[in-house]
Amino acid sequence: MRVLGIETTCDETAAAVVSLAEDRTGPLAGATRGVVEANEILSQIAQHAAYGGVVPEIAARAHVEVIDRLVARALAKAGIALADVDGIAAAAGPGLIGGVIVGLTSAKALALVSGKPFIAVNHLEAHALTARLTDGIAFPYLLLLASGGHTQLIAVRGVGDYVKIGGTIDDAIGEAFDKVAKLLGLPYPGGPHVEEAARRGDPQRFHLPRPMLGRPRPDFSLSGLKTALRVEAERIAPLSEEDVCDLCASFQAAVTDTVVDRTRTALRDFQNVAARPTALVAAGGVAANQTMRRGLQRLATEVGLKLVTPPLELCGDNGAMIAWAGIERLRLGLIDGLDAPARARWPL
Ligand code: KG4
Ligand code: ZN
Repeated sequence: MRVLGIETTCDETAAAVVSLAEDRTGPLAGATRGVVEANEILSQIAQHAAYGGVVPEIAARAHVEVIDRLVARALAKAGIALADVDGIAAAAGPGLIGGVIVGLTSAKALALVSGKPFIAVNHLEAHALTARLTDGIAFPYLLLLASGGHTQLIAVRGVGDYVKIGGTIDDAIGEAFDKVAKLLGLPYPGGPHVEEAARRGDPQRFHLPRPMLGRPRPDFSLSGLKTALRVEAERIAPLSEEDVCDLCASFQAAVTDTVVDRTRTALRDFQNVAARPTALVAAGGVAANQTMRRGLQRLATEVGLKLVTPPLELCGDNGAMIAWAGIERLRLGLIDGLDAPARARWPL
């Protein structure tokens, strides 16, 4: 089974081809994984950078300009023709509606002309299932989904079977990284720049709050932390390069402590909604952060769970995760009509 996946919900235009692999021998015997045959991605970051964030109208137009070429390139990289795929999947939301419509309409047109099944994928579900593409893990598992738009702790019990255990009551974690970067004069998107600066900084210089630490419900609140950082930055302004690095390191340490504490609480709540998890999974763009990964690895070791973090190119938005979610759904006969709507909001 082989699926073409298209992703256009935010500022990345992506198309990928993924096929299904059944492991018959070795340590993963019996497991089902995916093989990424092509994973083409074009980032629009340069077109949005001047505005300090994604401009929806610019995003939609940029998707239109490249989507056909990108799909053709993905098929060529995989060495196949459209007739060789078993299904065509696109992210139908949640996301910026103009962009979603571009990818969704392209996928529907390709499905129509090729007569192949069409699968409308929830972008969050695609992040949630990526660990099965890469590591073939079984259900259920605990997912920490941390991106620019989402921060959720989810019990993944099966395809289409998700229980939200916790979430953020204000900013998403990636959003907090992006806002802190902007505040400190670092480029957009902020996450990787904050991490880079933090590498040269002292995480102990500023004592920033660890919001919600020890609270009984595994929720997040990040706006207070961001404000505390702003107050510190204003107190010592003008900022030297060393100040910026120390602020980034202190912020990253505070976020990591919070994430580890909230995830530990979610693991405790997990037993109320599912059997023992097979793994702790971190996905979404923020899962690329190495300090965060180390914190989660310590937690996983502490509770005797395997930590699964997809490789960097599959952590952020990409087409392979959409193709894989398409495979998971197609295997269960979950296909969609060409009238499937584009959705700006679409909770899991
Ligand atoms: O999943 P993603 O590519 O897009 C969605 O938001 O759906 O995530 C992008 C977010 C941005 O906020 C970006 O700043 C953040 O993930 N991010 C990071 C890192 N790399 C990306 N945050 C912290 N550390 C990183 N290394
Ligand atoms: Zn995403």
